[in-house]
Amino acid sequence: MPLLEVKNLSVQFRTDGGLQPTVTDVSFSLERGEMLALVGESGCGKSVTCMSLARLLPEPPVVLSGEVLLDRGPEHGGVADVLQLGERALRQVRGGCISYIFQEPSVSLNPVFRVGDQIAEAVRLHRKDVSDPFEEAVELLRQVGIPDPANRAKQYPHEMSGGMQQRVMIAMALGCAPSILVADEPTTALDVTIQAQILDLLLSLKKDRGMAVILVTHNLGIVAELADRVAVMYAGRIIETAPVAELIAHPIHPYTSALIRAVPVLGGEHNRLNTIRGTVPSPDKFGRGCRFCDRCEYADSLSEEQRRLCREEPPRLRELVPSHACACHFPPGLTAGKEA
Ligand SMILES: Nc1ncnc2c1ncn2[C@@H]1O[C@H](COP(=O)(O)OP(=O)(O)O)[C@@H](O)[C@H]1O
Ligand SMILES: [Mg+2]
Repeated sequence: MPLLEVKNLSVQFRTDGGLQPTVTDVSFSLERGEMLALVGESGCGKSVTCMSLARLLPEPPVVLSGEVLLDRGPEHGGVADVLQLGERALRQVRGGCISYIFQEPSVSLNPVFRVGDQIAEAVRLHRKDVSDPFEEAVELLRQVGIPDPANRAKQYPHEMSGGMQQRVMIAMALGCAPSILVADEPTTALDVTIQAQILDLLLSLKKDRGMAVILVTHNLGIVAELADRVAVMYAGRIIETAPVAELIAHPIHPYTSALIRAVPVLGGEHNRLNTIRGTVPSPDKFGRGCRFCDRCEYADSLSEEQRRLCREEPPRLRELVPSHACACHFPPGLTAGKEA
């Protein structure tokens, strides 16, 4: 059993207009020590998916279904479905098994406490074996590459740069000794050099601690360098998943191909996703069938009968090549691969 296995996770928001299918039938698994990248344009449901893993979204208005099977380790009761857990067990999962770092460290750090105390508090809550949490906090600051950690620990968040604050957030997440670190666009707010440093740090933590990481990003370029596997989301669904090299070399779904074409070349100008006509539908506009079909140029070459299938039937995520799955009724990448 993998460390985490998500099966048919669906998340709906209760709104005045009824239930909105924000995340639909999402399935993926995460192995111990693996870095999985969750990629997709803004608004496709990446954050909602990640927050559901430890049930961080307020319920109601959120309606969750499916299974989030998590191996909590023998000392915490082994495998459980997070969606079925009571409050107490849930508190142990949050932080203890799954820790989060978000885009804006300034939102998660408390401005009135010294950073060392904030990290020490996380350690105190989750690691009964540590005798001196503050000393451990200093050690964690050192591990995330903060120079002069003993003095830095006594500073307040506002005395630090954005990059430093993000390192503090990572130290705080590590303070809980989680088996899974969810990094939700951890570098989007930072400038390019600092971005690279933070991503390097995540990679070395993964390697040194054998920690599993879910890295959320809208940038496939970042993913190529870091992740083991990629899951591409579009309009609340995973539409393709594969090992990173395989996905980038042989994308099957037309949306994935477009995302790859839109990756900015180093030194080149930033390409927006203008390689695809139209825009991402919002959850109240999701159709019954494939949510990409209105934008899919490949669909133009299909017969009317085939296009009706695209519009009416949601394509299932199917393994089309070993360990490479795609949700498309008429996968163009696959046809191209076969002809070659
Ligand atoms: N609390 C909420 N109530 C209603 N809709 C929400 C809420 N949070 C997010 N959404 C909607 O869910 C969709 C997915 O959002 P999100 O997961 O944040 O996207 P991403 O992280 O991929 O940019 C968006 O359409 C967003 O407007
Ligand atoms: Mg997000």
